[in-house]
Amino acid sequence: MKMSFAIIVGGALFIFFAVVMVVVFIPGWVWTPPQTIAAHVYTDQELVGRKLYFTNGCDYCHTQYVRYYDADNTGPISQGGNYVFDSPVVLGSERTGPDLSYIGRKRDLAWEINHLKNPRVYSPMSIMPNWYFLSDSDLAALGAYLFALGNRVAGEYMITAPVDYSHLTNPMTIPEVTPDPTGAPQGWAAWTAAGLQDGKTIYIDRCQVCHGCSGNGLGVYASTKVVTPADFKVEPFRYMPDDQWFWHVSEGIQGSVMPPWRESLTVTERWQVINYIQQEFAQPVERDPDEGNPTGQYAGATNPLPPTVETEETGKTIFIRECMVCHGDAGVGEGIYNQFIRPQPPNFSDHTHYGTIANPLFTDADYYWRISEGLPWAAMPIWKVKYSDNDRWTLVYYIRVNLTQTLPRPDVVGAQEYPPIYLAQTAPVNMTANDADVGDASQLVYSAPDPELGKVIFTTFCAECHGSDGLGNGWNAQFLDIKPANFTNPDVAGLGEGDWYARVSLGLQNSAMPTWGEWLPEQNRWDAISFIQKFIITANPTGTATFVPSVYTQNGGKVQTLYITLSQADWTAEGNTIDTTNGANVYTQYCAACHGDKGAGLTAATTLAGLAYPSPFPANMPQSYVYQQIWSGIPNSLMPSFKPLLQPSDVWDLVVYLVGNNTQ
Ligand code: HEC
Ligand code: HEC
Ligand code: HEC
Ligand code: HEC
Ligand code: HEC
Repeated sequence: MKMSFAIIVGGALFIFFAVVMVVVFIPGWVWTPPQTIAAHVYTDQELVGRKLYFTNGCDYCHTQYVRYYDADNTGPISQGGNYVFDSPVVLGSERTGPDLSYIGRKRDLAWEINHLKNPRVYSPMSIMPNWYFLSDSDLAALGAYLFALGNRVAGEYMITAPVDYSHLTNPMTIPEVTPDPTGAPQGWAAWTAAGLQDGKTIYIDRCQVCHGCSGNGLGVYASTKVVTPADFKVEPFRYMPDDQWFWHVSEGIQGSVMPPWRESLTVTERWQVINYIQQEFAQPVERDPDEGNPTGQYAGATNPLPPTVETEETGKTIFIRECMVCHGDAGVGEGIYNQFIRPQPPNFSDHTHYGTIANPLFTDADYYWRISEGLPWAAMPIWKVKYSDNDRWTLVYYIRVNLTQTLPRPDVVGAQEYPPIYLAQTAPVNMTANDADVGDASQLVYSAPDPELGKVIFTTFCAECHGSDGLGNGWNAQFLDIKPANFTNPDVAGLGEGDWYARVSLGLQNSAMPTWGEWLPEQNRWDAISFIQKFIITANPTGTATFVPSVYTQNGGKVQTLYITLSQADWTAEGNTIDTTNGANVYTQYCAACHGDKGAGLTAATTLAGLAYPSPFPANMPQSYVYQQIWSGIPNSLMPSFKPLLQPSDVWDLVVYLVGNNTQ
């Protein structure tokens, strides 16, 4: 046969397509690997999320393919059967970020969504872009997709420990510290015998900086790390097998700052700290403490420090830095971590427990002993590990003067003086990398204070004392003997920028007003100040209250898509109950100051300042609308988002209390 041009081209094409057929199409058709447990049929929402995952280019930085040599830390090696429901299968190309094959087992849904909005909240050095522009429903879909990756219910797919560790079980004979069925107290003796007090000492010394005092992964170093420290209160940690714990604590975690502790802790010490974390954070139970009395060096100890404002202020600084997260800044046990811990922190304002100045029921030694040694059955840390004797005594003094109020106040000489450098500060203005001369990008490196963010900061950190309307009547103000400031008071309202900044950063001496410089970043302090200036001080310069008309009637009762599907029936179908008495209490605590009795509104006569108060609630508001306003707040008005303060159960109680079953 003559090799004509046509035959050569035709033959080449034939060979080409035959090869494509054999290598591409036939494997595709006959590829039916047995489905593994990690594979699952996607729900409609997860499919939407999966699509978003690819359209947003997540796969440029993240793989979903665990290779032989990643398996130790990332999860079991990927198999064909993991992908049977993926069409098309996309493994991803670069490993700029971590492999996500089993991410659902590592993080919870809320974490996924918040991390997507701004990864740097969790990992400040992260180069992952912000996906804040996605709608709430898209974020929920993407979160749902990620959360389902790796199929978290498949226990047998747990990342298994390598052979060196896999056979290990806890070798120590540790008495169980579980609540006694007869209710007998389980105090110091049981805990020290169980080695848990030793474990706690190690935890505070070695682990707390990263994993946090309540084990939620938010220690002081956490915010500077690329990979967030583990939160022991979520899966998989809660029910992780012992060998996994021991393996990870011994070898550390590759690719993160989690250190290999076999270098510096003995085998016994490692088991002790693991036992402590399991008992206290991973699976905490309510216990019946048997505190006993201070013994040894603590028996009869009295405060050696002079009862001065300086002692009080030093104590306050440490209290805000270390103790506020659990005990709350007003000391009534409402710190932001209190929801994570059992037993919960005490209420220092309880005079039946702590007594009064005339009749104190706790001695100096009682406080000092507990602060120094911690309470073994609780998350309350052992502070002698971290703070000197004198520092701990300043804490005793601070708590007794301001919180339990069982000691007289120190004498104050003259007005508080703030350092000139604070008084000279002015609010930041927008500054780009260009202005700062650190590059050519027009990216914002410093921005002017944001009153809306300030409102969130204010609601989270200031409202409990100053009231959400800033008039000084917050729900914890009743427990303080020196009352929080009313910001519309001319003495306060008239302060200059630097004076505000100094007061918010360094607190007011001899009062419970916190030193926020210990806790809030500079930018957030300015945000809070800008909110107070814009919505409380200059709301209505003439000094008479204004009333804003109902948003509901104005905008035709718009409910955002995210909230439309909310239904009381779904909520109760999940096993929740509605408690309208709680709803009424929540209303009185958080809403009545601005909305009057059950939403009836205030009258000019009952308002205290020129704020923009809301009109009475219209009668026909549906539940989803009310839920939305409580959860997301109303921008550009005094109405805050109550997300930082309320649980969904409180919101449902409140909604039903306010509008009954009005679903429309
Ligand atoms: C430019 C690269 C890049 C892109 C694009 C990117 N990421 Fe990331 N991602 C990272 C890096 C780096 C990290 C590790 C630091 C961190 O936690 O932020 C990370 C972390 C994560 C984590 C947490 C992993 C863990 O082990 O804690 C998840 C989940 C995640 N990304 C999901 C996504 C999703 C979903 C998208 C697409 C919407 C996406 N990423 C797009 C780089 C990227
Ligand atoms: C320098 C910070 C740092 C310190 C100190 C630290 N950790 Fe971690 N730890 C981490 C980080 C970061 C992770 C998360 C790694 C990841 O998710 O990939 C982690 C994860 C863990 C995990 C979970 C491992 C897993 O299965 O993913 C355990 C258990 C743990 N740490 C125990 C401890 C103990 C016990 C100590 C003290 C003896 C300690 N850590 C001290 C940073 C730290
Ligand atoms: C991780 C949360 C946490 C942190 C941080 C914390 N505590 Fe506690 N604290 C508790 C809990 C929980 C209790 C109550 C234990 C109980 O009920 O048995 C407690 C109890 C106490 C008590 C004893 C009260 C009593 O009635 O017996 C004192 C005093 C105390 N804490 C002071 C402090 C000081 C001072 C700091 C900061 C240096 C601090 N705490 C930090 C959780 C914490
Ligand atoms: C634990 C309760 C408490 C919390 C929380 C609190 N404050 Fe205060 N604040 C006070 C008290 C009490 C005073 C009054 C002190 C005095 O009169 O000596 C005060 C005074 C002030 C003053 C000074 C007013 C003046 O008289 O010069 C400013 C400004 C202030 N607070 C701002 C804030 C901001 C901003 C926040 C939130 C970031 C906040 N406060 C949170 C209790 C609190
Ligand atoms: C600091 C004052 C303040 C507090 C506290 C407050 N609100 Fe509001 N609320 C407002 C203002 C002001 C508006 C009207 C905003 C506008 O129309 O621009 C409003 C509007 C609303 C609306 C919309 C009403 C309508 O007519 O459309 C609802 C619902 C609502 N608030 C519920 C609550 C609930 C429930 C609480 C307690 C959890 C609460 N608010 C606490 C100030 C407050």
